[in-house]
Formats: sequence, C-alpha cells, structure tokens
Amino acid sequence: MRYGMVKMLLIGLCSLLGMNSCGAASNKTEETKNTNTEMNTDGKKLVVFFSHTGENYNVGYIEKGNTHIIADMVADAAGADIFEIVPEKGYPKDSYNECIDIAKKELQADVRPAIKGDVKVEDYDVIFIGYPNWWGNPPMCVYTFIEKHDWTGKTVIPFITHEGSGMGGTDRKIAAECKGANTLTGKGLAIQGKVAQENQAAAQKSVEKWLNNLGITK
Ligand SMILES: Cc1cc2nc3c(=O)[nH]c(=O)nc-3n(C[C@H](O)[C@H](O)[C@H](O)COP(=O)(O)O)c2cc1C
Repeated sequence: MRYGMVKMLLIGLCSLLGMNSCGAASNKTEETKNTNTEMNTDGKKLVVFFSHTGENYNVGYIEKGNTHIIADMVADAAGADIFEIVPEKGYPKDSYNECIDIAKKELQADVRPAIKGDVKVEDYDVIFIGYPNWWGNPPMCVYTFIEKHDWTGKTVIPFITHEGSGMGGTDRKIAAECKGANTLTGKGLAIQGKVAQENQAAAQKSVEKWLNNLGITK
C-alpha cells in the first residue's frame, strides 16, 4: 500500500516534470557503484552547492534547501570549506510552477545565468559539487560556476538531491564540464530531497557511510 502510494507519487512527478527516466528512478538514498579506479581524496576540501528555497516538490515551502542541508553535513563531516552558488536572478520562491517554467527555459536555451561571488577552486584539491536533479541536469548556474574555473588535477565528487530520478547521469555531465579533473563518476551520493528535509538522522547516516566508503575524514 505504502509502496503503491510512493510509486503513484513518482509517476505523478514524472508527468508533472516531463521526465523520461523514471523507469530507473529510485526514491531511496542511492550510492552508485564504483567505476573509477584512481582517486586522490587527500588535501584541502571544498563543498560547492546550489540549492533552491521556497516552494519545492514534495516538501512544501522550505527555508533551507534540501541540497543545502546535505552540503552542510558533507562539509562538516569532511572538514571542508563551503560555498553556495547563488544566481544573480533568483528563482521564484512562492510558486513551484513558475520556478520550473524558468528552469525549463534555461535548460532548453542552455544558458549560463550570472552568479554572485566566487571561491577559488584552484586553491583546493578535492571539490564536492552538490545540486538538485533538474531533469537529469544540475541547474544551469552550476555550469556557470564550473566554467569559471580551472579543474586540472582536482578530484571532483558529485552529490545530488532528487525526488525519484537519483543521480540520473548528472555525474557524467559534471565530469565532462570539469575538464582535467578526476570526477568520481559512479561514486557520488544521491539522496531524496524529502529525506534530507524531514529525516535528517537518516540523511546524516548516508552521508557518513558514503564518506567513510570513500575514505574521507576531517
Ligand atoms: C525545476 C525542477 C526540476 C526538477 N526535476 C526533477 C527531476 O527531473 N527528477 C527528480 O527526481 N526531481 C526533480 N525535481 C525535484 C528536486 O530535484 C528535489 O526536490 C531536490 O531535492 C531539490 O533540492 P533543493 O531544495 O536543494 O533545490 C525538480 C525540481 C525542480 C524545482
């Protein structure tokens, strides 16, 4: 019964968002299989993330975004500095539908929205990049951030929050953007946004287990 309801919600979300990858979706926390053989996770660490506040899918109006919650957990557990990607022109907070309209137009036009501030990625060795799943992509402003920097020799570790689509191949897109980096595709963490928002003890456990498996400590 409970599974049926969850499935219905996912199907509803897929049609609402126009997603085409829900067959492979998971609403559970997902640690994808390891595919990289090489990884250097030592050195100075940074967490970079984008997260949307306001009306969001499945969680109502939120003051702190789902990815933001996970980003704080990762930064705390890994002893990393943290930077939030904030677009100059924010997304509407009071209407989920208006937010997705704008996001969809940005994705279709493959734009690079201007962002506020910056952090010198070049000073770090390991960079976690966190974002919500927006139709199998990070929000476009994440690409704006990535394209401003030199990723040569960095270790990049993606994490994502979602409502059914999981990592959705976004880690490969991040890898393609972060030229010259060793991006840990297949080793990123995907957590359902609702879990991040409403069951932080479970989210915390997943973050710790994931970092532990990667051999990352403070
Ligand atoms: C514009 C938009 C598109 C979305 N597309 C998807 C999607 O394709 N698959 C999915 O599982 N969730 C999708 N979601 C849900 C978000 O990924 C999910 O709510 C996430 O946890 C939000 O994180 P945030 O609060 O950090 O922004 C979408 C949400 C928005 C606003």
